[in-house]
Amino acid sequence: MLSPLLSAAARSERTRRLVTAMPPTRRVVDRFVAGEALGDALDTARELAAAGLAVTLDHLGEDTRDRARADRARDAYLELFSGLTGDAEASVKLSALGLALDDSLALDNARLICAAAERAGMTVTVDMEDHTTVDATLDLVRELRADFPWVGVAIQAMLRRSEGDLRDLAGSRVRLVKGAYAEPASVAYQTSHEIDRAYARGLRLLMAGDGYPMVATHDPRLIEIAQRLADSREPRSCEFQMLYGIRVPEQLRLAAAGERMRVYVPYGADWYGYFMRRLAERPANLTFFLRSFVSR
Ligand code: FDA
Repeated sequence: MLSPLLSAAARSERTRRLVTAMPPTRRVVDRFVAGEALGDALDTARELAAAGLAVTLDHLGEDTRDRARADRARDAYLELFSGLTGDAEASVKLSALGLALDDSLALDNARLICAAAERAGMTVTVDMEDHTTVDATLDLVRELRADFPWVGVAIQAMLRRSEGDLRDLAGSRVRLVKGAYAEPASVAYQTSHEIDRAYARGLRLLMAGDGYPMVATHDPRLIEIAQRLADSREPRSCEFQMLYGIRVPEQLRLAAAGERMRVYVPYGADWYGYFMRRLAERPANLTFFLRSFVSR
């Protein structure tokens, strides 16, 4: 019951204003977000690199409805690539680059970001947003891949269409996630059992293909399945990915075991939607959030 409510709150402007105005929120947000400034993100990337972890940086923002904001989001990534070093990449939401305004605006912005990534010797993976944006996102990714074949994309196992999308993306860099948006039963599996089974099927497809699987989950059982499938893959190449601040000991354990482990590091002032999705994923996070008001 709680999770759909929190997912709805993630999209509510009124709740956004309320939550972002609460004084203790910042401290709780810091558990999931590296900070508001580029310098915070670069410091975090350096600390993670020192611990043997790769990073993918996400400049927070989504659902942009004006051109100037979309351009500012693009510029934030251009600045990011001028400061980033090591085993790093960027994660990009096309809605932050203007997808809802105009496909060609988002495409032009994404192209400039990809060109900057290429100059820096790094890559870009496109995040997947709610189901209404999947076709437009995959169309743009296809266009980007014509010039930058290394561009990756997130595919959500919970969507019924995703097995078909995974087949179409054969040979690509694909980040497999469960899916963070509340979706109707007409387009998405609803129970965790169904979603986990769909994720395992997705893993089998990716590991049997010749693309580069990015296994983005904190679920121990699915990580084990991925490792087993990777062991019978020649070459083994694949990586594991988790979100900043979630299951950190497991991130370190996988890196120490020799896996390539990448941490998704969000930063920036527009943390509200991302933060609410993390609360919705786990009721215990909400308790942690509420407790911060009592223990002030
Ligand atoms: P699940 O939710 O079953 O969690 C498994 C275990 O992980 C839990 O039991 C708990 O221990 C821990 N855990 C998970 N979430 C937690 C949380 N919020 N707080 C504390 N512990 C938690 N989604 C999307 O729709 N589009 C996208 O582009 C992306 N991109 C993306 C990139 C990367 C690198 C990751 C890791 C995830 C995403 N996601 C995403 C989010 C994804 O869809 C999903 O919502 C979360 O990863 C949680 O699902 P799990 O696979 O971890 O399983």
